[in-house]
Parts: sequence; structure tokens; C-alpha cells
Amino acid sequence: QSGLITIDPGFKNTGSTKSAITFLDGEKGILRYRGYNIEDLAENSNFLEVSYLLINGELPTTEQYNDFAGRITNHTLVHEDIKKILDGFPSVAHPMGVLSSLICSLTAFYPNSLDPNNTDEEIKLSMVRLLAKMPTFAAWAYKNKMGHPVNYPDNSLDYCGNFMKMMFSLPSEKYEIDPVISKALDKLLILHADHEQNCSTSTVRIVGSSQASIYASISAGINALWGPLHGGANQSVIEMLEAIKADGGDSKKYLEKAKDKNDPFRLMGFGHRVYKNFDPRAKIIKKAADDVLEKLGINDPVLDIAKELESAALNDQYFVDRKLYPNVDFYSGIIYRALGIPTDMFTVMFALGRLPGWIAQWKEMRENNEPIGRPRQVYVGSTERPFVPIDKR
Ligand code: SDX
Repeated sequence: QSGLITIDPGFKNTGSTKSAITFLDGEKGILRYRGYNIEDLAENSNFLEVSYLLINGELPTTEQYNDFAGRITNHTLVHEDIKKILDGFPSVAHPMGVLSSLICSLTAFYPNSLDPNNTDEEIKLSMVRLLAKMPTFAAWAYKNKMGHPVNYPDNSLDYCGNFMKMMFSLPSEKYEIDPVISKALDKLLILHADHEQNCSTSTVRIVGSSQASIYASISAGINALWGPLHGGANQSVIEMLEAIKADGGDSKKYLEKAKDKNDPFRLMGFGHRVYKNFDPRAKIIKKAADDVLEKLGINDPVLDIAKELESAALNDQYFVDRKLYPNVDFYSGIIYRALGIPTDMFTVMFALGRLPGWIAQWKEMRENNEPIGRPRQVYVGSTERPFVPIDKR
């Protein structure tokens, strides 16, 4: 082949596309969705409005918002046969595995999603279905783990209220939605909604580039997010903080472990490929953690350990030299826990938030008619050699 092939492990210095959706400035710690600062959106918007913004490029008018929210509400119910798929999972199944399977099963229920020449209306409908049914599937994945009966969506509730009721209500008890929890959840979903070409979004784009259905592409993104170096970090952070607490709460000892090249231990929730300054989301979540725990009257010792760890790391040469700061996952688990969400659902919460971003990025990839993703390599294997029969080896 002509031309030089450059190898860039992890694509640290490779741009995969041009995108108009999300802007990051890693040095200054800036994050904007379609030009709006994340601080403004977290303070003034709501998750469905941000979802509309990411997918359509503009903040919706009241009429556009009501139509968008209304369509989503009318698609929350899922085909009863999907419960048969859910029933096939043992209760030990990790909710992320259940979620990615249920999302992928939508391709079977809506086979026209495989048609690359789908009309805009049909593509729009598949996006509405995803936004509408993901909370139902996420709550069902949790109920499957708990051995509880699943709940059906309640279309009289808003997005987060409906999700919480499907997650936490039991036939035997009355369930009241706590507005403090619902508002905190909505803010967390906004903060996770998109983040340019991260690992799971790049996965959605490359799977979509083969003209796989949008459901299969999103299912692939869910699986990429699962890894502890990516969306799975919020679960690993809590497990790390709990381990430090169980080991006497000496955060300095763990800081040293994280610096020791021979020790595989990493300070989970710290560091970022792009941010070489504070992750703006971490700042917002850290403040929200204080607010929510105070409003709910919760004193979580793990939050104190997290703060100690953060201040020690920010004054430690190893972390300063490598520009390692807390990322979005460092404090998010503390809030999820305060909201009553179990640890193995933390990454599911990340996926719920990231869904509109994945949808927007898949749509942009299709609208740009991007070619199938197929990188090259530099071959370093055996040179040509003849086959040797087994009795001669
Ligand atoms: C997310 O891409 C995105 O935008 C992701 C995300 C999104 O919204 O989609 O922001 C969400 O995934 C946040 C990141 C969550 N992951 C973690 O918190 C896991 C811990 N973090 C690290 O594994 C790491 O920082 C990454 C994976 C986040 C970034 O990895 P890079 O860019 O490949 O950096 P690297 O591993 O090459 O590290 C550079 C140096 C190395 O030291 P040296 O070899 O130069 O001596 O920093 C060190 C690393 O050893 N380092 C850490 C560390 N992170 C990096 N050392 C200790 N603890 C850490 N957490």
C-alpha cells in the first residue's frame, strides 16, 4: 500500500471525525453541549431538554419540548415478549449485561431498523423508542437482580420520577417520589449526556458505520462503557473508598499504592485522557454531593475519605506532574448511593445519562455519510512459511 501508516495506541493523537455536538477544552476544563456551558445546562435545564438539544442541535421551544417529551412518554411500554428475555436471566446477571441485551433485542422487534434507507421519521421513532424504553429496561435489570416483580411505567410521572418508581416501588408498599432525589438524578443525567469521542461513543459510531441498527450500535456502546477504565469507574471508586474505609481510612497509604509502578492499584475516578485540569462535571457533582447528603440528612464517611484523597492527590507531585484530577466518576457514586441506587447499577445510571449523546453522535455519523470504520495496521508477525504436517512438528 502507498503512504505511511502511523500507529497511535488508544488514538491519543488521532481525530476520528468532525463533530458539532460537544466541545471539550482539556487544558481549561471546559465542556459545552452544542455551545452551551455544562454549568448553565446543569443549573437551568432538564435531562429531556438537554437530550433534545444534543440530538437536534437547538434548545426546543415549549411546543417542540412538549411534543418530544410526549412522544417519549407514549413509548415507555415494552412488548410483553421482552419480559420473556428478561426471565431468561439469572438474578446474578449484572444489570449492564441485561440492559445491553434488552436494548439489542429491539432490533428483533423492529426489523426495519436494519434498513439503511430508513426515512427520517423512522429513525426519529427509533430514537424516541430508545429514550423511552431504556429507563424501563434499566429498572427491570435491577428488579431482576433483586428478585422483585417488575414495575410498568407510569405515564403521569416525569422522566426521573417514572424511573425511580419503576426502580424502587414494591407491590407491598406505598412509594413516594422524593423531589430532592428526582432533581439530583436529573442533574446527574445531564452531566453524563455526552462527551465527544470517548471510548463508548467511538464504539457506537464505528458499529453504526457498518449500517448495524441503532439498537445494536447503542448496545455495543453500553458494553464499552462497562469497563472500569471508562463508565465502570464510578462503581470501582466506591469499592475503592469502601476498601480504604475497611482498612482504617488511611488514604495516604492508597495514594502511595497508586504511585507504585509495581502495584496495579489505580486511584479510580482520577485522571482523564482529555482533561488536564479539573473535570468541570466533577466540580458540579462534588457540590451536588454535599447538597444532596445534607438535604437527605445522610452522613456518609466515604465522602470524607473521598475529599481527603482528593486534597492529598492534588498536593502530591506524582499527580500534579501527570495532571491527574478527579473526573466525573469520582463523586458520582457517592450521590447514587445516597439516592438509594445500588453499586452495580452505577454504570447503568451512566448509560442512561449517556444515551442521548450516543444517539446524537450516531445520527451525525449517518448524516455525514461516514464510511465504514476500518483502520489499518503495521504487520509484525511471521514472514511467509510452508505448512508443516502435525506428525512433523
Ligand atoms: C470516563 O474519555 C472520556 O471522556 C471518558 C469519560 C466520559 O465522559 O465518557 O470522561 C468518562 O471514563 C472517565 C475516566 C474514568 N476512569 C477512571 O477513573 C480510571 C482511572 N483513570 C485512569 O485509568 C486513566 O487516567 C484514564 C483511563 C482515565 C486515562 O488514561 P490515559 O489517558 O491512557 O492515561 P495513562 O493511563 O497513559 O496515564 C498517564 C500517566 C501514567 O503514568 P506514567 O506511565 O506516565 O508514569 O498517569 C498515570 C499512569 O500510570 N495515571 C494514574 C491514574 N491515571 C493515570 N496513576 C494512578 N491513578 C490513576 N487514576
